[in-house]
Amino acid sequence: NDMLRWQRTGFHFQPLNNWMNDPNAPLYYKGWYHLFYQYNPSGAVWGNITWGHAVSRDLVRWLHLPVALFPDRWYDAHGPWSGSATVLPSSGIPVILYTGSTNSSSQVQNLAVPTDPSDPLLRRWSKAAANPVILPPAGVGLYDFRDPTTAWPAVDGGSWLIAIGTKDDSAAAHAGVALVYRTVDFVKYELVPGELHRVVGTGMWECVDFYPVSEGAKHVLKASLDDDRRDYYAIGSYDEGRNEWVPDDAAADVGVGLRYDWGNFYASKSFYDPAKRRRVLWGWVGEADSEAADVRKGWASLQGIPRTVELDAKTGRNLVQWPVEEVESLRMSSQKFENIKLLPGSSIPLDVGPATQVDMEGEFEIDAAAIAALMTATAGAGYNCSTGGGAAARGAVGPFGLAVLADEAVLEKTAVYFYVARAADGQLATHFCHDESRSSRANDIVKSVVGSEVVVLPGEALSVRILVSIFYYSARISF
Ligand code: FRU
Repeated sequence: NDMLRWQRTGFHFQPLNNWMNDPNAPLYYKGWYHLFYQYNPSGAVWGNITWGHAVSRDLVRWLHLPVALFPDRWYDAHGPWSGSATVLPSSGIPVILYTGSTNSSSQVQNLAVPTDPSDPLLRRWSKAAANPVILPPAGVGLYDFRDPTTAWPAVDGGSWLIAIGTKDDSAAAHAGVALVYRTVDFVKYELVPGELHRVVGTGMWECVDFYPVSEGAKHVLKASLDDDRRDYYAIGSYDEGRNEWVPDDAAADVGVGLRYDWGNFYASKSFYDPAKRRRVLWGWVGEADSEAADVRKGWASLQGIPRTVELDAKTGRNLVQWPVEEVESLRMSSQKFENIKLLPGSSIPLDVGPATQVDMEGEFEIDAAAIAALMTATAGAGYNCSTGGGAAARGAVGPFGLAVLADEAVLEKTAVYFYVARAADGQLATHFCHDESRSSRANDIVKSVVGSEVVVLPGEALSVRILVSIFYYSARISF
């Protein structure tokens, strides 16, 4: 057990020990990136929630700070739950809005401001005397009203708008809903009539995120679905006057369409980074193994390496995400493997030597004859990563890709692969999947085979980027 406690991961953020869930209030202030997170200071399971806090100059190397928010008022006695920061342009100072799980476990929204704004590390926060600043409105369940977003400026030039997630179980709708509030001073709020959006059947929307892409031409709405613990987003148009966001493609609406990630990735939250003029996305990566294993190792979960997100200019229909460029500053040495010819059924070892972290970029080109042959074959029902038989089921063009951490001695490997098939409409469709069924020999792990179709334009090569964090034993950490 002692050895387990010393195990750390690379690349991704984790506190020194104990339980972590959602990323909270990411922001940039006086040269520092701040990350807060749902944190249990006294155990490796969810409970005793506080706001953990860490800062970084580059989003990659982190300095751990003392807990920023404790459950020390009636309105957050069962925990300061998730929330967001807004940096006010007039003063440059951030404010935090967060959900309080009250002494009776109802959900209210609270305001906290820096106690000492001259401290670039923002170590101390003052809870507003006016708290709670928002109570569940009429018709909204006391336990279904949480996770306020970052505020965006209203067109009137004086007020701010925020969104809060809830659900509507009336008339069997089981709808996920985003409500909007208006404020001038972050102390007094009014509910904006109507709803930003709702999707029937998707249930409680946790950790709603709402942000402009493509210079405001489009808006992304994201909800974390409590029902299936996945993050779904959609691209659409926002009309502030009508208090309405409408998806471009109703068939790809929030909760039924696009996902940020097919691995464990939940309760994500983005922020605008003024230093590098980019939108950066954080997401909570939960453990896939048992709670007993978490307790044994003394910690649970990571925040995935932050990603830059943009509207995909190629398609206009989805986002593209990339690990923040700063991660490349961790590269110590590099190797190139070129002109490798992969034949059906073959596998070619790439010896990267000893490492605790590997950052790989790969590019595949498919033999034109194989594509031509595929086009003359009868179109089937199409391929699906989860039902396609995983990495072991061979088809006409695929699976091909990388077997990550393939350890012949222990027979473990994680397959990350492409599969090109003809869809029902006769067109070529490229799928990008991963297969965890042989990722570990441990048997207390949820092992998924998942992925989705990716848009590939004619003539484009298929590229992959894989960050591999190998557990290592750290001597740097003391408890
Ligand atoms: C999402 C969530 C949020 C809540 C927080 C509590 O994982 O359930 O809705 O604010 O975690 O820790």
